[in-house]
Amino acid sequence: MQVLAADSTAITAAARLLQQGQLVAFPTETVYGLGADAANPEAVRRIFAAKGRPVDHPLIVHIPDLASLGQWAQNIPESALTLAAHFWPGPLAIILNKQPNVPLEVTGGQTTVGLRQPNHPVALQLLQAFGGGIAAPSANRFCRISPTQTSHVAEELGDAVALILEGGACQVGVESTIIDLSGLHPQLLRPGQISRAAIEAVLGERVLVSKATQVRTSGMMAVHYAPATRALLCPSGLLPERYRQLSGQGKKIGLMVFHSLTDTAPVAQILMPTDADLYAQALYASLRKLDSLRLDIILIEQPPDHDDWQAIHDRLGKASSRL
Ligand code: TXA
Ligand code: MG
Repeated sequence: MQVLAADSTAITAAARLLQQGQLVAFPTETVYGLGADAANPEAVRRIFAAKGRPVDHPLIVHIPDLASLGQWAQNIPESALTLAAHFWPGPLAIILNKQPNVPLEVTGGQTTVGLRQPNHPVALQLLQAFGGGIAAPSANRFCRISPTQTSHVAEELGDAVALILEGGACQVGVESTIIDLSGLHPQLLRPGQISRAAIEAVLGERVLVSKATQVRTSGMMAVHYAPATRALLCPSGLLPERYRQLSGQGKKIGLMVFHSLTDTAPVAQILMPTDADLYAQALYASLRKLDSLRLDIILIEQPPDHDDWQAIHDRLGKASSRL
């Protein structure tokens, strides 16, 4: 595996690898993706092998521009064009009915396909150079924390990936919002930086939140984005008491909190930003850091119960659902 600064030579090399059916990890504004030629079933199968991901979990296809949407989706509703025009390039994946030529390997056997135009210069340059759609899940092993830096990708995938394009730390830090527009009503499948309210405002229509998991979306599984260390969420007011209780039991504790716990000496403490966007940016690197310290427990201070924190609540809930 090779890590290359994403200059034009590296981008050309990456595009060539994709054309040859190889895997390339690349930065997006949300998290790093593990990319393959979305039109090449053989290449797409390599993604599942590298991640250890069940083959019925569909992938998002990254496209270079709105104009190429029609190559991947059919019966595209007006709402999709409205949302794409408003939020693309950006952290919004849209589920639509697939064109017949989209390989079933990409869609996990389903007749719908997830599409997004990412908002990262390296991703966009790679898409331009490659000239097609790039299927890319997050570049982590199945059920692990998504990578927001190249070092995370290397840790996760090692030699399973031919090339990693260096693009710095991801700005958004959590995966894209997913909206399903293939049915009668828009449904939110995964919260992200683009909130349900923001989507409703642009659509002028209510968006349902999908709880049912008829469709297999790994992002919707209860245990996902999980550190190996047990993680516990705790309301601010109960934090000192919970900490004392657990350390009294001899547990080695790492803290992810907004303010330092003064009367304690935790093995590790990460002070998290109080701004939701900045918190999201730091979230996965922080979990990964604490997860590497061989602790017994990661104790996480619950963020505010506010709309801006929706995606973070979702990911923290998943990170801490392992018992
Ligand atoms: O921010 C992101 O979306 C990142 C970057 C790399 O773009 N990608 C990402 O991919 O998070 P992944 O595979 O880790 O998560 C994609 C989610 C999964 O939960 C998958 O099941 C869902 O999208 N998905 C993809 N196609 C779908 C479809 N046709 N129907 C329902 N869910 C779908
Ligand atoms: Mg993922």
